[in-house]
Amino acid sequence: MARTSENSGVSSMHLATENPRCELRTWQPSDRYSLCAQANNPRIWRWLAEDFPKPYTLAAADAWIAHAQDSESALQLAVVFGGAAIGNIGVRATGDAPRGHIGYWIGEAFWGLGLATAAGRAFVEHLRAEARFDCLETLVYAGNTASERVLDKLGFIAEGPCPQVLYKDGRRLEARRFSRSLRVPAAR
Ligand SMILES: CC(C)(COP(=O)(O)OP(=O)(O)OC[C@H]1O[C@@H](n2cnc3c(N)ncnc32)[C@H](O)[C@@H]1OP(=O)(O)O)[C@@H](O)C(=O)NCCC(=O)NCCS
Repeated sequence: MARTSENSGVSSMHLATENPRCELRTWQPSDRYSLCAQANNPRIWRWLAEDFPKPYTLAAADAWIAHAQDSESALQLAVVFGGAAIGNIGVRATGDAPRGHIGYWIGEAFWGLGLATAAGRAFVEHLRAEARFDCLETLVYAGNTASERVLDKLGFIAEGPCPQVLYKDGRRLEARRFSRSLRVPAAR
């Protein structure tokens, strides 16, 4: 269930997750140091889209937070654990109207704690209740077993090879497309 709060005139959304120490909330300017510290990591960068900054500077963090607060066609939320923003989960509209494209990452120090799964379940349920998209999709580069496992737990199904040609750092990458209908509740 989403709740909103007001901070310096800026409205903030909060989504609880199944982990009492983890919530999703609107990015705030004060998250810049934590965002920069967690995101400036090649082991995160390598699995994300070409435009994910490397190095991830404070200027990049400020730009992301401003974008996340402003965007109308996307919803990008901080994954907060123990009070600190340690990751991101978001959705943006695709050209294919009722389909949303989701993306996520968690700071490496927090991998394996079930946070991407907890964040994903809360986020998918929120998008289902909001009824803006009929279906979610995402692309996973070959070899990203942890992400495929998370998607499996969230009820996503592999659709097959990604139809677009994807490049990372000038190299062509293989990827698979996963999708999930929002007409059915989150898998447990
Ligand atoms: C993918 C990512 C978000 C997972 O975050 P996380 O919080 O560690 O995920 P969870 O703890 O919720 O679940 C990870 C699952 O993958 C499994 N896993 C992790 N590494 C694995 C590996 N090498 N092989 C098989 N399974 C693996 C874990 O065991 C766990 O499954 P389980 O609950 O059945 O044991 C995180 O590794 C990350 O941010 N990676 C870099 C960015 C990225 O890949 N984003 C997604 C792009 S598609």
